[in-house]
Amino acid sequence: MTSIREWDASSYDSLPLPHVAWGQRVLDRMGLTGDELVLDAGCGTGRDAAALLERWPGVRMVGIDGSQQMLDQARERLGDRATLIRADLLEPLPVPEPVDAVMSVAAFHWIQDHTLLFTRLRASMRTGATLSTDCGGRGNVAIVNDALARVTGDEHDGWEFAGEDDTRAKLEATGFEVRSVLLRPDPFRIEDPAVLERYLATVMLGSKLDAMPEADRAGFVTEVRLAMAEPVVDYVRLEIDAVAR
Ligand SMILES: C[S@@+](CC[C@H](N)C(=O)[O-])C[C@H]1O[C@@H](n2cnc3c(N)ncnc32)[C@H](O)[C@@H]1O
Repeated sequence: MTSIREWDASSYDSLPLPHVAWGQRVLDRMGLTGDELVLDAGCGTGRDAAALLERWPGVRMVGIDGSQQMLDQARERLGDRATLIRADLLEPLPVPEPVDAVMSVAAFHWIQDHTLLFTRLRASMRTGATLSTDCGGRGNVAIVNDALARVTGDEHDGWEFAGEDDTRAKLEATGFEVRSVLLRPDPFRIEDPAVLERYLATVMLGSKLDAMPEADRAGFVTEVRLAMAEPVVDYVRLEIDAVAR
């Protein structure tokens, strides 16, 4: 099942995003020399691609995302400094040639079939290419999930918060040598209720809101916020470093 949907890119970019720090952590781990072809898988509005090009101006960047709004915003930010492609990460990836490195921030947990995802990524990489990623991992956003369960009777069913051992096994089965797979708690507190609601609506609950009448959406988000035990998005990040065998 595809996880492709439209995202509200301008609301997304106007929020306080812990994603900025997650992106910096990924770049810190990439160990590029500066002349590589790099794929940002689920590039969103191009924030991390821009930061990468600032650090390594000689890199050739390809960004893939499923949301046209996110890509339009990325195009504005990056101009012609990157090739941007609308595609599903679960389909064969339309990269111009096998890439030297893949990065990704806050995208993989939206995709439920990680074996197929890793297979698609591996097929787009040359042997020896690196995979350096961040996404939600086991235990991620439990406070929000508990609130959702209280409001709807069910936890969110669209996220895949994988653990360390299952991720290692899937990477090894799809042609990667694992360097490190790590879960790292990183709670994010948002005191202002209006900002927290916009954060929930834009970053977390979009797929749920898409499925309900527009008139019900704001009330639903308020209910979820009020059901949260505290105004904390209790992130647990899953950080992957691997090499294509
Ligand atoms: C939370 S955003 C993260 C964007 C960006 N990497 C960042 O850190 O700001 C998740 C992104 O993953 C993309 N995405 C989710 N599932 C996808 C899929 N199957 N194929 C391509 N992109 C996908 C969404 O369109 C969205 O832009």
